[in-house]
Amino acid sequence: MTKILNFGSLNYDYVYTVHHIVQGGETIASAGMETYCGGKGLNQSIALARAGASVFHAGQVGEEGDQMIELCRESGVDVRYIRKIAGKSGHTIIQVDRNAQNCIILFGGSNRKMTHAFIDEVLQGFEAGDYLLLQNEINEIPYIIDQAYQKGMKIVMNPSPYDEHVEECDLSKMEILMINEVEGEQITGKKDASEILTTLVNQYPDMKILLTLGSKGAIYCIKGQQFIQTAMKVDAVDTTAAGDTFTGYFLDSVLRGLSVEKALQRATAASALAVTRPGAAASIPMNAEVEEML
Ligand code: RIB
Repeated sequence: MTKILNFGSLNYDYVYTVHHIVQGGETIASAGMETYCGGKGLNQSIALARAGASVFHAGQVGEEGDQMIELCRESGVDVRYIRKIAGKSGHTIIQVDRNAQNCIILFGGSNRKMTHAFIDEVLQGFEAGDYLLLQNEINEIPYIIDQAYQKGMKIVMNPSPYDEHVEECDLSKMEILMINEVEGEQITGKKDASEILTTLVNQYPDMKILLTLGSKGAIYCIKGQQFIQTAMKVDAVDTTAAGDTFTGYFLDSVLRGLSVEKALQRATAASALAVTRPGAAASIPMNAEVEEML
């Protein structure tokens, strides 16, 4: 049976409710503060599991990271490849303003202490044809890509948050690239959605591309053929993890063999539900809720 391995971050998110995002030199009071389990890796594993996929998460937490492992386990994620190491877990400081917009400071912690030995040990459990999902919140991503590609694994990458490390990754080894407009511009230098897609298709003709456009929906592109999905209108409370929810539900749908149209609709409904709820992993809906919305 084809396995899905998500090698990614696990963060504690410290979320502050503010009137507006704090400006340079300014001090503002927060109307509320909550701690949630998050991290793009953890969120995407939980979205996959809640969508119904069987997913292995590989990653590292620090000494105080038990709650994140427990949440993954309770959500149905296989946690055998999550290890606890000395030092602090990854964490974020997130401000959410009255328009549900956020801004995030990321501290890598244990997410940035991956070693070749640990990566090799994890990849031993997988073989040609298995899927590997990656984001950009852990170190050694280029090494993971090269090793997994050599094994014949199918690599799906959400290069988020974009930084100089993404430039070290060989995108020609990707089966599917999942990006938003901002990442699309950072990778291609183009602002317009169709120009982003054309540039990527010209450079990587065999790669499938999912371009999410926030409130404007999403486009999936396979060998130049575009499938367009509009967004669903909801009252947003907190957009954190909306993209991760989309990624998890979309990938589960594709791997189940659903049509592209159905996969896009399902992922759109799941992320629409996620933005109506506070927090990261806590906001990711169960499959039954998504089906009901559809
Ligand atoms: O995508 C949302 C996630 O990004 C948050 O949970 C936070 O941890 C940041 O990594």
